[in-house]
Amino acid sequence: MSQSYAPSPEFTEQANGQADLYEQAESDFEGFWAAQARERITWSKDFEETLDWSDAPFAKWFVGGELNASVNCVDRHVDAGNGDRVAIHFEGEGGDTRTITYADLQKLVAQAANALEELGVSTGDRVAIYLPMVPEAVVAMLACARLGAPHSVVFGGFSAEALHTRIADADAKLVITADGQFRRGKPSPLKAAVDAAIDHGDDESPVQTVLVVRRTEEDVRWVEGRDLWWHEVVDKQPETHEAQAFDSEHPLFILYTSGTTGKPKGIFHTTGGYLTQTAYTNAVVHDLHPESDVYWCTADIGWVTGHSYIVYGPLANGATQVLYEGTPDTPHKGRFWEIVDTYDVSILYTAPTAIRTFMKWGDDIPAKYDLSSLRVLGTVGEPINPEAWRWYREHIGGGSAPIVDTWWQTETGAIMISPLPGVTELEPGSAQKPIPGISAEILDDEGKPFTEPDKVGYLVLTKPWPSMLRGIWGDEQRYKDTYWSRFGPEYYFAGDGAKYDGEGNIWLLGRVDDVMNVSGHRLSTAEIESALVSHEAVAEAAVVGANDETTGQAVVAFVILREEAREQADEVGEGSDLVQEMRNHVAKEIGPIAKPRTIMVVSELPKTRSGKIMRRLLKDVAENREVGDVTTLADSSVMEQIQSGLQK
Ligand code: PRX
Repeated sequence: MSQSYAPSPEFTEQANGQADLYEQAESDFEGFWAAQARERITWSKDFEETLDWSDAPFAKWFVGGELNASVNCVDRHVDAGNGDRVAIHFEGEGGDTRTITYADLQKLVAQAANALEELGVSTGDRVAIYLPMVPEAVVAMLACARLGAPHSVVFGGFSAEALHTRIADADAKLVITADGQFRRGKPSPLKAAVDAAIDHGDDESPVQTVLVVRRTEEDVRWVEGRDLWWHEVVDKQPETHEAQAFDSEHPLFILYTSGTTGKPKGIFHTTGGYLTQTAYTNAVVHDLHPESDVYWCTADIGWVTGHSYIVYGPLANGATQVLYEGTPDTPHKGRFWEIVDTYDVSILYTAPTAIRTFMKWGDDIPAKYDLSSLRVLGTVGEPINPEAWRWYREHIGGGSAPIVDTWWQTETGAIMISPLPGVTELEPGSAQKPIPGISAEILDDEGKPFTEPDKVGYLVLTKPWPSMLRGIWGDEQRYKDTYWSRFGPEYYFAGDGAKYDGEGNIWLLGRVDDVMNVSGHRLSTAEIESALVSHEAVAEAAVVGANDETTGQAVVAFVILREEAREQADEVGEGSDLVQEMRNHVAKEIGPIAKPRTIMVVSELPKTRSGKIMRRLLKDVAENREVGDVTTLADSSVMEQIQSGLQK
């Protein structure tokens, strides 16, 4: 079944991203990016050189240019006469709301910047931000940017231990947090984790000040001389702040991400290139029209998606956006669609895992709301299986909204591979082509580029790009080793497996650590998962490669059944009709080689708080080992449930 999803002429006509962008970028790479930088960003001092790659892999973009990221995201919109435009429609989990215009945001950021200065924060100092999804998180980031003090945002779901490591690695002298956060209708503490991260025992904390936003109004421990209430310090500050321009390569933020070793990597980004590419992609990929769109990115501010597509990209473009504090099922499973309906959201950017959850909850839930305002849908974070893609298009996008499946990473800073919604004929499940200005290839084991369809290889980026990471904080060697050595210094190795289809579209196949080798054939976990999910009985699936004496690795699948299937199947164990049928279904979809050796029916999958399935733990189960560290799971009891379910 091949269905084409060409853009409608009406969409194309109004789209920011037109086909000629590809030609422009192709014919003059540096000229293209220089034009983007000048069109989208206001420079206090123009740059002299677009790219300096002489010290590769340490790039300098827009050399000699000076700018202030916070001024670009806030002040210039007010100066342009758009002070009354809503910047943020804040929706609290409990239903409390705040409307913040660009003029309001300008005052809030100025006050916060003045407060930070009063507390001794100056250019180059690192500030840790450990906040829930409240407007102060955006304000805090922009206030740091205004002072040239790189922020290190730590996801509010991380533990005190994780916070401790990140504070220590970045040597942060100030932490901005809240008393607590609302999660599923209940207040849960945050400040306590900051206390524990600072009073860690083994070493002296660099933190001198903790600035605390009052959110839940629960009691907190208070350390005199160190802890200060945000409202007491910030609210009394002057409402204007004179911003200084910084070098284009001035560090903007550090964001920690897990690598193959235990120690998280502090990915750091600088100012001019990052802002240019986030603004450009938000304009041409999300097709943001700031005067008419209401944009909503559902990511948490603690992840790179929140940095690039809640804060810097959309605000640089002067967007009106929704900021939602809570979870999709609080207080009911229609919460997202209620928000879309209420605010007339026109661009929605979310994760495939969320979409599959919505599918599981049923079509009738979104059907209760008016979603006709939606005109562009996006996904990020993992491959989206074609079934989820079609469901998203049909049940959320009214059967017509283009879906942009955007591939990128914390390291890339901004979208790299994605359709342009007014140009590309969409292929469900594929992120398709590098966007204009970006160059990617797929390499084989020997490091040779190839283009033949269906052969599995490694995704690499072949040219520097403006929003690329500038390194790993404090570890130049690790930066080179991790990203620029596997296939030689001219290729950025993304760590993802990929293949082309017959049309030259790129299909991302998951991290290479998730690519299995069965009888000498490479198989992607994502591909088998997608096949399983396309079976009518399956709601979600996770696949791991388990050691196998005969075949090297064998495919082991964990599946969650759909409600109806669970009710109908009298037996779901190994050897049952349903399991046999699912195995055959995979064989049919991909080939007999991909047929899972084992399918285990479970009621939950182990996921991190960002929604990523923790295959490592499933691998432990599949290989009959004791299950490893479960501390990063959103719900640490999931593994017990799985194991006790399997023993029954
Ligand atoms: O494996 C790819 C997957 O997520 C990884 C990057 O994760 P992170 O740094 O946490 O950033 C996530 C948000 C940008 C990639 O190496 N990934 C991300 N987007 C996609 C994807 N895999 C397939 N398709 C995507 N659209």
